[in-house]
This record gives sequence, structure tokens and C-alpha cells, in this order.
Amino acid sequence: MSDNFEDKARDAMAAPQNVGEMQDADSVGTVGSPDCGDMLRMWLKFTEKDGKKIIDRASFQAFGCQTAIAVASMATELLKGKTPEEARNLKPNDLSGDLGPLPPMKIHCGQLVEQALQSALDGKDAPAEKPTETLASGLQPQGGKIKIVPLNDSDDS
Ligand code: FES
Repeated sequence: MSDNFEDKARDAMAAPQNVGEMQDADSVGTVGSPDCGDMLRMWLKFTEKDGKKIIDRASFQAFGCQTAIAVASMATELLKGKTPEEARNLKPNDLSGDLGPLPPMKIHCGQLVEQALQSALDGKDAPAEKPTETLASGLQPQGGKIKIVPLNDSDDS
């Protein structure tokens, strides 16, 4: 496998992990980038281990670029077993996992994944409210209830 980020992202994009709606999710978050128009939704399922709440599974759907999909694929794998607090502290370059650090031009693609994760951790889009809605159906004008969360340019907090 190549050490080049673009090559790794292309490989990850060719066989993305954890794609699709999670029917039994505990939480879901949806974000859109006002810059490029890409959108990403992430579902989380929690479980308990040794008295701690941890992420059991994560999945995603994206209308996004290759990088966003590749990072989401990596992120949904590495989120398994993390506590919500640990997951909340992950930055785009953490979520990119084996892809390596994001090139400067691709940081916002990783932020799309980060913000979808944050939104899911916040539990703002309760899955029970729209159990069968896909990201595609949510984009239909008559869907009307999709939540767009602008990405922050800086996240030094
Ligand atoms: Fe929009 Fe990558 S170009 S998320």
C-alpha cells in the first residue's frame, strides 16, 4: 500500500467500511459543509463495558468527496470501544486513522466527519424521529427537517 494520502484515501474509498443507515442506532448526527455542499450523517450505537458507556458500532452515509468518505470509513472503525468523551476529543487528524494526517486542502473534509460525530454524540437528531429516512431522502425539499450544521473554520477550544 502506498504512503501517499491520496492513494490511501482512494483505496479506502474503493471499499468503505460501515456504510449505511443503522436501524437500531441510539443516536444520529447530520452535517453539511456550506463551503462545498457535501453532507454526512453518522449513526452511533452504544453499549456498556466494565460499567462504562462505550461506542459499540458506528456507520455513515455521505454525499461527499473521496476524502470525507475515506475518513468517515476510518473513523467508524476506530470509534468502536471509545467512550463518548474519548470520541468527542478526536480531531480530524485522529479520525483519519491509517490514512495519516490530512493535507491542508482536505482539513475541512475531516471536519465534516468530526462535526457529524459531534452532532451524533450530542444526540440532536434522535433516530426515532425519522427511523427510515436516508441521507438522500433527507435532502429532498419536502423532507424539510434535515439539520445543517456549519463547520467552524477554527476549532481551538
Ligand atoms: Fe467537501 Fe471534501 S470537498 S467534504
